[in-house]
Amino acid sequence: MRVLVINGPNLNMLGTREPEVYGSTTLPELESRMNGWAEALGVSLDWRQSNSEGEIIDWLQSVDAAGVIINPAALSHTSRAVADAIQAITAPVVEVHISNIKAREAWRAESFVSGACAHTIFGRGVVGYRDALLHLVNSSTLPTAPVRYGPHEDNIGDLRVTGSHLVVLVHGGFWREEYASDTMESIAVDLAQSGLTTWNLEYRRAGGWPGSGHDVLTALDFIPQLERTFDDVTVIGHSAGAYLAMWAIPRTSTTVGRSLQMAGIFDLRSAGTTGTVGARDCLKMIESGAPAILTPGAERTVLFHGLADEVVDPGQSSDLASRSSAELVTTESGHFQWLDPSKEEWQLVKSRIPAESP
Ligand code: DQA
Repeated sequence: MRVLVINGPNLNMLGTREPEVYGSTTLPELESRMNGWAEALGVSLDWRQSNSEGEIIDWLQSVDAAGVIINPAALSHTSRAVADAIQAITAPVVEVHISNIKAREAWRAESFVSGACAHTIFGRGVVGYRDALLHLVNSSTLPTAPVRYGPHEDNIGDLRVTGSHLVVLVHGGFWREEYASDTMESIAVDLAQSGLTTWNLEYRRAGGWPGSGHDVLTALDFIPQLERTFDDVTVIGHSAGAYLAMWAIPRTSTTVGRSLQMAGIFDLRSAGTTGTVGARDCLKMIESGAPAILTPGAERTVLFHGLADEVVDPGQSSDLASRSSAELVTTESGHFQWLDPSKEEWQLVKSRIPAESP
């Protein structure tokens, strides 16, 4: 698979340009990291940068690749012409921004280009480029149908229909807008390739509570209205998504066969005092009325946590296991190995899902 990567105006100055906003990675360093990620995925990259709007439009018009990743830089906020060029071509285009354009000057919050793109990733630093690549690869692997479960634009989930066992995926990211369901896509594809139907949920993030939790509950309640019936349902959450899943499972009218929670947050108060990334978001959840401490419902619950987790303290899972009947599984891993099909951590979680209904 060949992917064209277009970097817009001023991105040639990465590394020295406002490093407090864009980081210290230079464009050539980013290109070499991207080549490493691409090679691991069997993708070849056509890497470009231009300060000229016309040249970028010419590159889009003459694209000869299965997909495009574009960081249009400031052209995102000014150029209907770049948006039109993206609209005019059939190759899927993923828009990337290194910074969180929604949390900066008001004029940056709107991108004219997003509406024409298959997906937009922002605010994840240069790693957003890797995530864009993963999204292109994952969405080219198996057919996916977006299925709405509510009126808000984020009340949607990607359904990959294969077997009669449904696995619902709830992503993490401290209920922040910049982290979206594409972070669970690799494991969704892996499950679907093993014959399990997957529904990878999006939900309202900014603000966290009550929107996020209630969206996940609405999605679980919606399962009987999906296009087919399922013999068995498994719910998998990661990190902040595990909090939402664990809150919603005992409340839904859908029967959940098992709850598998990876690197989860279950005690907002203690997570809010760790001083790590996301601590403030946990306290904000409590201030918005989210229950500070969760306990599992009656279904089979397994809590997976890496003892070297750099984002969520493994005590979150071990404390919950000690005050409930949930099973605890620990590994030596960090926070993200659970989301990577090539890692044994994910395979451990997957091994707890019966391939067909029991
Ligand atoms: C940017 C964000 C834009 O607002 C800005 O004009 C850029 C870079 C980013 O990657 O965060 O040049 O696209």
